[in-house]
Amino acid sequence: MTTPLHASPVSTDDIVQALTAIVGPQACLTQAPDLKPFVTDYRGLYVGQAAAVVLPNSTQQVSQVMAWCHAHGVVVVPQGGNTSLMGGAVPEAQASSPAVVLNLRRMNQVLAVDTVNDTLTLQAGVTLNAARSAAEDAGRLFPLRIGSEGSCQIGGNISTNAGGTAVLRYGNMRDLVLGVEAVLPDGRIYSGLRGLRKDNTGYDLKQLFIGSEGTLGIVTAAVLKLMPQPTASSVALAAVASPAAAVALLGEAKKTAGQAVTAFELISGPALDLVLGYLGNVKSPFEARHDWMVLIELTSGASAEGLDATLMQVLEAGLDSGLVLDATLAQSGADAQTFWRIREEISDAQTRTGGSIKCDVSVPLSRIAAFIDEATAAVLALEPQTRMIVYGHMGDGNVHFNPLRPADRPAKDYLAAFYEPISRQVDSLAHAAGGSISAEHGVGVAKRDDLSHYKSDVELALMWQIKNALDPQGLLNPGKVLPAPVAAPVVAQA
Ligand code: MLT
Ligand code: ZN
Repeated sequence: MTTPLHASPVSTDDIVQALTAIVGPQACLTQAPDLKPFVTDYRGLYVGQAAAVVLPNSTQQVSQVMAWCHAHGVVVVPQGGNTSLMGGAVPEAQASSPAVVLNLRRMNQVLAVDTVNDTLTLQAGVTLNAARSAAEDAGRLFPLRIGSEGSCQIGGNISTNAGGTAVLRYGNMRDLVLGVEAVLPDGRIYSGLRGLRKDNTGYDLKQLFIGSEGTLGIVTAAVLKLMPQPTASSVALAAVASPAAAVALLGEAKKTAGQAVTAFELISGPALDLVLGYLGNVKSPFEARHDWMVLIELTSGASAEGLDATLMQVLEAGLDSGLVLDATLAQSGADAQTFWRIREEISDAQTRTGGSIKCDVSVPLSRIAAFIDEATAAVLALEPQTRMIVYGHMGDGNVHFNPLRPADRPAKDYLAAFYEPISRQVDSLAHAAGGSISAEHGVGVAKRDDLSHYKSDVELALMWQIKNALDPQGLLNPGKVLPAPVAAPVVAQA
């Protein structure tokens, strides 16, 4: 565990005065109503405390803020769009000394688009939407696609190694980042804004900042990979016989359509019921109710007709073999949008309902169907009325396995009774199947203590060694990601 070097913490007034001198009075917020949106997490589950929120407009300012806070033992919590589902971007509620939230939203410039090297260089506060638009304007694709793309920022996407609905084809954020600039806890700047696809000159330091959730440094800029823009896409919804049938259909799609398979998303019957209840004006794409469905998207540089024919071939093979029970191919861009809307609104529908136990797990595809069956049985054995909201990125092995309270049971009551036992059961089954207890949402504070059950002593010790090497005072985003180390047992001396 890290130990602060500063015996007497500085006062809030000192902090505000020093940081105002760096970023200017307009960019140093101190009043409670102004602080509220920055100290409250996206789902309203975590509310922290901060002495101030600073909004620097350059890497130099971030560096100066960090250097001052480091010299005075002040905690800094980096923040992008504040869309973490794990409470990773807000300060702790009970901190021993005042924290500063450092939000990067003013650093929102696209710095360069290189269509020869196929790279996009931008500041960390650019939203994912703006990054995708900048790529599109240059005739390219930046392929990361997640529900919060209008508000999440590239720096947050990097810090959390964001995933989403196109990982099957393009990989996670880690696969899309070529270079990173980051400010270290002591204010030094790591300048790694290189656009190289090959660079074997020792440790790949940028990886330290990708997925470490702002505990090792603050990402201030990045070089991202651009891809060719697809010219055609074809989208279908298919009702499938079971999770195992969905996996078999994915195999069929890969065999027939190869690289064109861009998304393969699972949707359980209760997830569709829930989302349709909220959307109101959207009808179910199927006549009958089904327990399991998949949304399949193919994209390529070929013609739209050719792609539709390929997807039809996949669906017909599925119907012939009994994997597919019913299917509907989007006939227009508007249809495709509706199918995607159904999928993407599931998350919000749960938030609005309240009482959802979010388990964001990944399991090797070869074991995912058995995992879903076993975890469903385990949850229903605990509370048979639970609504099984199971959906997500099956194509890459990531399911959002989110048991939801029965309709007539208050959220608080259900979570108090079942949050612990259900999440422990689901996580343990995923772990036993060779999976991960956090596939794409990160660890933050929500999953921090669970890591001690699922990571080996060696892994945990290495994580702490890295943290201590970069942030020996433990001032950067404390209380996130790393579970408190378990003290070594005292061995009695003979
Ligand atoms: C999604 O894929 O919709 C989100 O990652 C899941 C969520 O918000 O729980
Ligand atoms: Zn997801």
